[in-house]
Amino acid sequence: MSDKDLKIPYGHQSIDQQDIDAVEKVLRTDWITQGPVVEKFEKSLASFVNAKYCASVSSGTAALHLACLAADIGPGDEVIIPTLSFVASANCVLYCGAKPVFVDVYDDTLTINIEETQKKISKKTKAIIAVDFAGHPADWDKLKKLAKKHKLILIDDASHALGSSYRSKQIGSIADLTTFSFHPVKTITTGGAITTNNKNFYERLKRLRHHGIYKSDSLSKKYGGWFYDIKDLGYNFRLTDIQAALGISQLAQIEKFIKKRRQIWQRYNKAFDKTHGLILPVEKDNYFCAWHIYPIRIISNKIARKEFFDKLRRAGIGVQVHYIPIHLFNFYKRKFNYQNNNFPVAEKYYQQALTLPLFVGLRGKDQEYIIREVKEALR
Ligand SMILES: Cc1ncc(COP(=O)(O)O)c(C=O)c1O
Repeated sequence: MSDKDLKIPYGHQSIDQQDIDAVEKVLRTDWITQGPVVEKFEKSLASFVNAKYCASVSSGTAALHLACLAADIGPGDEVIIPTLSFVASANCVLYCGAKPVFVDVYDDTLTINIEETQKKISKKTKAIIAVDFAGHPADWDKLKKLAKKHKLILIDDASHALGSSYRSKQIGSIADLTTFSFHPVKTITTGGAITTNNKNFYERLKRLRHHGIYKSDSLSKKYGGWFYDIKDLGYNFRLTDIQAALGISQLAQIEKFIKKRRQIWQRYNKAFDKTHGLILPVEKDNYFCAWHIYPIRIISNKIARKEFFDKLRRAGIGVQVHYIPIHLFNFYKRKFNYQNNNFPVAEKYYQQALTLPLFVGLRGKDQEYIIREVKEALR
């Protein structure tokens, strides 16, 4: 069954009249790109995650790419990354000419294994990119301690975790650079962003997203009002005002979105509590998860994951698998000589993994239907 024919997708944007009105309003103004709404969105997002600065960009991938460039990651550098993530978490390192070095994840939270990370640190290591998997934050205190000891830059790929927190600190305020994706299946929908408390990173990010263009009053005075210089090789990764208006409107609803996501997570947990053959996503003490996905593991001896996946798809339920560990992709195997069994926890998880639908618009009766079909498949 193709994704378009599914009765229930695994994720879906949540757009209401308020969002549509906000976009329409911008369309009637003079500015639809590079206008004042972008800055307003950035201020709201920085305030929500409790960070000093926010630079919006066109996607989560652009955010990762620019975060690496702002951190000065380049040829000869190594960056440590958990193999269990969306491939963008590693591709961004290659865009900068550096080498991604993979590590395994913890079996419970599926976030980066810090003891293994420590072992992989070399003279060439410049940064760690940790992923707050499914919305569950990594162990940031331990990561910060490690990064401080080895003078490494910490990048948080928080594409799944807008609204999550770790020991009462908002995700977005902890790492040196935090990247967000606002792809339609994520907690809010628009482009992407990077938050930081470091002014130098912020200034660099703003140039890099806009072709590397640098303007200043002193340059204008000296050469003329039109003048700008190019300090770094940049890109056109800017967010439009149309997207920023959508972002502001979506962010205004985030508490409601997170509440609904957590209700769906709790309802699944309760329904499957006594069901044999499943491992459910857990929220550890001191963590608060704005769940992006609901990844379960099929450990039943009655049905294999592939059969389970096909059965639910036939029932019109848009299950997914998050993710194929990155080192297992042909490109990465060929380029860096990775092999099967290099990272046993992530690979075992991958063999058993299945993501159930979780999004704000998931109706109670649809979730009941999913729960029934899952139980039925395990019988
Ligand atoms: C962990 C992770 N990193 C990066 C990305 C890339 O984000 P985007 O699709 O907005 O480019 C995604 C989302 O797809 C993701 O899930």
